Amino acid sequence: MTAITGTQILEALENVMEPDLKKDLVSLNMIKDIKVGADNSVSFSVELTTPACPMKDHIRNACTAAIREHLPEAGEITVNLTSKVTSGGSCSGHGEKPNPLPNVKNIIAVGSGKGGVGKSTIAVNLAVSLARSGAKVGLIDADLYGPSIPTMFGLVNKRPEVRDKSLIPLEKYGVKLMSIGFLIESDNPVLWRGPMASSAMKQLITEVAWGDLDYLIFDLPPGTGDIQLTLAQMLPVCGAVIVTTPQNVALSDVAKAVTMFRKVNIPLLGLIENMSYYLLPDGTKDYIFGKGGGEKFAKAQGITLLGSIPIGGMVREGGDSGKPFVVEFPESEATESINRAASEVARQISIRNATASNSNCCSHHTEE
Ligand SMILES: Nc1ncnc2c1ncn2[C@@H]1O[C@H](COP(=O)(O)OP(=O)(O)O)[C@@H](O)[C@H]1O
Ligand SMILES: [Mg+2]
Repeated sequence: MTAITGTQILEALENVMEPDLKKDLVSLNMIKDIKVGADNSVSFSVELTTPACPMKDHIRNACTAAIREHLPEAGEITVNLTSKVTSGGSCSGHGEKPNPLPNVKNIIAVGSGKGGVGKSTIAVNLAVSLARSGAKVGLIDADLYGPSIPTMFGLVNKRPEVRDKSLIPLEKYGVKLMSIGFLIESDNPVLWRGPMASSAMKQLITEVAWGDLDYLIFDLPPGTGDIQLTLAQMLPVCGAVIVTTPQNVALSDVAKAVTMFRKVNIPLLGLIENMSYYLLPDGTKDYIFGKGGGEKFAKAQGITLLGSIPIGGMVREGGDSGKPFVVEFPESEATESINRAASEVARQISIRNATASNSNCCSHHTEE
């Protein structure tokens, strides 16, 4: 028996394409730790661009098939999937300004035209879903006017520690958290005026010890005001996720939010339609607010529909009880749908990062 070499394995794997990045795994430098045993057993790792990669099974099967086809003498084949989240900066108008969060690989803004569409619910569950996939995740409650993250994580009246003049984010369900709600009395509504809101927002970004993060998610207030502008000016935002409900799609607020992100050069990762349908006990979907609104809107705007989340008591209960529904009801349709949406968000980011690093459009924002 002739021993298989590492080079032969790489040659075989040159035939496996990364379906989103449209290049083979070897050119993308994704193959690591090749080992060949005495019995010609083969093992190697594929380093994905996100642990939330929706193509995991596909890639693993394609690798095994390629080895089987090109190296029939191979024994047992073990494909390990690892990940190292990429960062492409963004092609936003951030330009060459210093980045106050150089250790954060990807900044995601979750926005909407209107309040009450479930933006915070989606932001929270996206964050927990990404964290559960293995990513390092932070979440900023940037809705200074109606912070809801303390309630949604069961952390009302908690205060962050201060260490070396930095606020230490609270941490729950694997997500690092910061909210204006942790810094002010909860029943003491603050009437932020424009400049005050901007400076409070700046504090949440620069005076917090965020550490190394793969994804930092901003739960933005509804609309198109100072907070959104401050974010765009301060940070290289990788992309925005727009949240809407089917009955709101028709309203001009959603289009306004899309236009605003375009104006400040924040790329649109796509749209999540919340409260899309009600899942009946027999498994059929009741589109109580009409079907296909989000899809139509996304198409018209030229953006991706990232996911559709059902309406349901357990979604609301999760928010009220301080346990996000992905934690409280891990087997539910809502969890499945948010996990799919989270994978889709991560995937869109990986695709953007690959293009950004190819065209080198944001060379100041380098990967570690
Ligand atoms: N898919 C859903 N099904 C049922 N209730 C939901 C759903 N999404 C959000 N809600 C509820 O709607 C209300 C508003 O949601 P929230 O996330 O606070 O909206 P926003 O941040 O856009 O103002 C909350 O009570 C929340 O629990
Ligand atoms: Mg909210």
